[in-house]
Amino acid sequence: VKKRIVAGNWKMFVASREDARALALALRKKLRGASGVDVYVAPPAPFLFEVANILESSPIRVGAQALSQWEGGAHTGEASAAMLKNAGALFSIVGHSERREGGESETVVRAELERAVAAGLAPILCVGERSRGEGGEQFSAIEEQLASALKNIPKNTLKKLIIAYEPVWAIGKGAQDAMKPADLEEMVIFIRKVLADLLDRTEALRIPVLYGGSVEAQNASALIKEGGVNGFLVGRASTSLDSFLAILAAIR
Ligand code: 13P
Repeated sequence: VKKRIVAGNWKMFVASREDARALALALRKKLRGASGVDVYVAPPAPFLFEVANILESSPIRVGAQALSQWEGGAHTGEASAAMLKNAGALFSIVGHSERREGGESETVVRAELERAVAAGLAPILCVGERSRGEGGEQFSAIEEQLASALKNIPKNTLKKLIIAYEPVWAIGKGAQDAMKPADLEEMVIFIRKVLADLLDRTEALRIPVLYGGSVEAQNASALIKEGGVNGFLVGRASTSLDSFLAILAAIR
């Protein structure tokens, strides 16, 4: 995979319709042409439709931060993959650690992944260890998460799949607390090996692997050059125009 991907997960940081509109309009204006980087944004669900409309004829792809494990029916408060697609989503983040923390189990994550694919949404599957240990516990944690989400997954699922490696301990800090490029490289090699063991080798090699966790303009370039990733899933720094553009500029 050569093309770089930078996805912005707006979380609940972009808190109003006006702010979501303003950020989307500014991004549309600034990222008009091809930039060598595929840019994705995931606004909060109530603003998805409007942001998708604003970015419809731009190169920026809009998606959901989460989706329901259910296809439809009596599930209060849920939004199905098909509904999100209908509202303009092209992708969905699946199994973000902030949702796993809230009780989303491996079984649910796997169901969501299948729903996303069935509806034609590209899944960005998040995996990440909660902490690191001397004994390399982080590797078994990542292997388990990948295996439980992807084991026996239908082959056609893989075409659009993106993996986001987001170590929980590195999320929401400053650039100096983000992962070190050498540690990232080691984990990315491990992730690619696990994917190759779980899936068809050639297909596994094509799956983009992103890093997320306190990515800023200061650390983006080293992480992409030395970390072996295809791009980033950015939280807080994606919610201000300047810091998001600075990350894009840093890896271009
Ligand atoms: P931060 O970039 O705010 O650390 O968030 C990372 C993340 O969780 C993106 O999904």
